Formats: sequence, C-alpha cells, structure tokens
Amino acid sequence: MKKTIVLCLLILSVIGVTAACGKDTKNTTPTATPTEAAPTEAPTETPTPTPSPVPDVSLKDVFAAHGLKVGTCLTTTMTDNAAYSKLITQQFTSVTMENDMKPDYLFNQDKSKAAGDLVVEFNPNMNKMLDWAKENGMAVRGHTLVWYSQTPQWIFHEDFDEAKPFVTREVMLKRMESYIKQVFEKLKEEGYIDLIYAYDVVNEAWMEDGSMRSAMNPWYSVIGEDYIWQAFYFANKYAPASIDLYYNDYNEQYKTDTLEKFVKTLVDENGNYLIDGIGFQAHLYTQDSLTDYFKTVDQLSKLGLKIQLTELDICLGKYQMPKQPNAKNLAAQGVFYYDLINGLFERIDAGTLKMDALTFWGFADGMSWRKGYSPLLFNQNYQKKPAFWGAVQVRDLAGFDYKEEDK
Ligand code: GLA
Repeated sequence: MKKTIVLCLLILSVIGVTAACGKDTKNTTPTATPTEAAPTEAPTETPTPTPSPVPDVSLKDVFAAHGLKVGTCLTTTMTDNAAYSKLITQQFTSVTMENDMKPDYLFNQDKSKAAGDLVVEFNPNMNKMLDWAKENGMAVRGHTLVWYSQTPQWIFHEDFDEAKPFVTREVMLKRMESYIKQVFEKLKEEGYIDLIYAYDVVNEAWMEDGSMRSAMNPWYSVIGEDYIWQAFYFANKYAPASIDLYYNDYNEQYKTDTLEKFVKTLVDENGNYLIDGIGFQAHLYTQDSLTDYFKTVDQLSKLGLKIQLTELDICLGKYQMPKQPNAKNLAAQGVFYYDLINGLFERIDAGTLKMDALTFWGFADGMSWRKGYSPLLFNQNYQKKPAFWGAVQVRDLAGFDYKEEDK
C-alpha cells in the first residue's frame, strides 16, 4: 500500500523508538546509562523523499507559552548522570523528589528520643537534589508532608518507640505541628525555601467509595478524622505565602465528588480556604476515558482553586493489562498525550482552569515505577516517543496518522 509522506516522516522520526522498544522488551537492560548524545539524537538514515527536520521543540518552551512550569520527578541517579541532567535541564523547569522529601527520609529517631520531640533532619540526597535544582534554575514541588505510606511508624508511638502504645491525639497534634514547622524552618535556614512553589501537605487520604483512608493510616487512627484539616492549618501557619499548599491524590476521576465535598471543608473560621490547589496524580492508562477525565477537571476547576497534574504518566493498556510498546500502541499513547495536554491548554487559555504547572512522573520508560507499561515520553534508549510529540503538541509526529494497513 502506498504510504503517505506524513506517515513516512513519522516512521523515520520514531524508527529508533519502535526498533528500540521491540529490542528492549526482550533485553533486560532497563537501567542502561545513556551516552551523552543519546537523549536528543535524531534518526541518522537518509530519507527519501527528504523529510523536513524533526522540529526543535522542548517541553519547557511549549508549556511556558501557556504559563506553565513543566516538571519531572527526580532521583540522585538522574542528578549524578551528565546525560540525564542535560535532558532534564533541556526539557523541564520543575522537579519533585521521587522519594527523598517523604516522611521516611525526614526524621532522626535517636535525636527525637533525646529531645522528646520529633526532630527533622534533611538527608544528604535531599540536600544534593535541592542544590542541583538551585544550580540549574529549577523550581521545586515539595512532596509530601502527611501520608499513610513511606512514613516511619515510630513517630506515632510513646517515646518514639514502636514497641510502645500510640501517643494520644493531643501529643500527636503537637508532633504534627512541630514537624511541619521544622520542615519550613529548615528549608529557609538551609537556603532552599525560595525554590519551592508548591507543597503536597496531605497525600492520598480518600478512597474511591467516598470514605477516608483509615486502614493502616496512623494519622487517622491517632488524631482522628480532622487530621487533614489540622495538617493544612499548620502548613498555613508555617509555610510562606509564596508556597501553594496542595492536597494530592490518585484515581481523581473516580473520587471527584468526594474531593469536591472534602475541599470545601478546608477553610478557616472566616471561611477562607486553607488550601491553594488540588494535585491530580494522573497515573493514567491509554484505555481510560479522556471525556471522563475532563469532567473531573471541569467539575473541580469550579472550586476556584489551582489544579496541577503532579505525577503524570500514561500506561499502555489498562490496569494489570499492559500492552506491548509496538508502533500501534505507541501511536495511541501519543494521541492520548496530545489530546490530554491540548484539552488542558484550551481550558487554561480560556481562563476556566487555573493550572501553573504539570509534572510528569519521570521522563524515560526504563526508569519509571510502571516501566512494564512504557508510560513516559522517552523510551528505554532515551529516544523521543510519539508520546513526546503529543506532549509538545506536534500533531504530525504524535501518532494520529498511524494506520494498521501501513505497517
Ligand atoms: C504515589 C506517590 C508518589 C510515588 C508513586 C509511586 O503516587 O504520591 O510519591 O510514590 O505513588 O512511585
């Protein structure tokens, strides 16, 4: 069958992607270190007819044109590697620590026992990444203060000893206040506070059935149902006004009414919001319904708060049913990224959505927590996928022209 020129361009520009994907699913080299040039390399074959060059567009320019920062999660594996660092600084303007600002990494147990109060101590990796962010002009999302997961159990127990009973609600509220106060004080003392523009105060507190997460959630068990309100109250008290305070959750499209109802309770005695924004983690699948997703965006936008996508990745297939990264599925993913981001840009430009940043949960499939689903913008060899072109709104390379019979 005669192929169209556009399809020819698409195939040539992603040839490295599709070939590499097929190869990498057989090979087990997901953590291979890229060469210096790998992330931005264009295909080398001489095409016939000569195609126009692959457009030189970056995520950061495209998102800035709509007033947005664009981010990735960050690890020291990335900051320690020159090629990864280069790719991040070329494409992104914001970073979120994948782990090192979570409660598991923020406390010193011995010092807490000695002081009789929770003692916050930043870990070397956190300092290293904040220094890297500063040197590279990156803004930072703080992630996360109060969460049921990745949080040491001993902080909830008498004498900071897990073998002893839980402390009372009053003691835990004091510990929570002290913790949140120390985090913001130390960020200031250590010269990082101005990097931070948003902070996830509470992560993942609601269930899909509209109930609060209570199982294995010691914040809830010890303090009670108002623990989220208390966390926002303290964050408001100690965070500078320059930092937007976020509630962050996943499966947002299945929790829309719950989130709407709950956010309205996060107000002070004068009825003013204690919260600035809602973080949609946006861990999506190519088989999700974008129509439903935009219903959530539109419904929650009406609250007047900011909304950010905070951990965006779009898996091939659906939950527990990953699809192969072949040309067809990668094209569908490119289209999904294009349509999602296009729909957000339209709402932002029309003034119906207040969004100042969008963060991807990484950039390359081989480093993703959901790597079996190939969810990100670059493949395991750090080549741009149709997903990248979708994200930067280059429609001709985003997979719209894929046709089964042209294979
Ligand atoms: C949640 C958390 C993130 C991260 C992912 C898995 O979405 O908010 O910090 O742990 O799970 O990587």
